Amino acid sequence: MWNEVFKKDEIKNNELKNITIKGIPLLIVDINNSIYITDLYCTHEQTSLEEGFIDKCHVVCSNHFAEFDPKTGKVVAGPEGEDTKIDNLKTYKTKIENNTIMVDLP
Ligand code: FES
Repeated sequence: MWNEVFKKDEIKNNELKNITIKGIPLLIVDINNSIYITDLYCTHEQTSLEEGFIDKCHVVCSNHFAEFDPKTGKVVAGPEGEDTKIDNLKTYKTKIENNTIMVDLP
């Protein structure tokens, strides 16, 4: 079911924002004006990925620098200095309608 997130112009290029919709904490990612939406928390130790940054089209966690591809949620690099295997991030379908970002939530 589609839900409104916020206006497209409320997020800037290469910015990360969080919002909770229907009790689900979400990360909104703007990479080169394309919007991606994933779960907010890192699958390693639950750090908010909004505190992280974008590097080469990946979201990097500020805590141990795990990297995720926000398009697929796939782990690109695990936590620094650890062999721990971490889960991929959940991703959500998104679209822009009338300049409003929409997310498809169950
Ligand atoms: S909490 Fe994100 S890499 Fe450790």
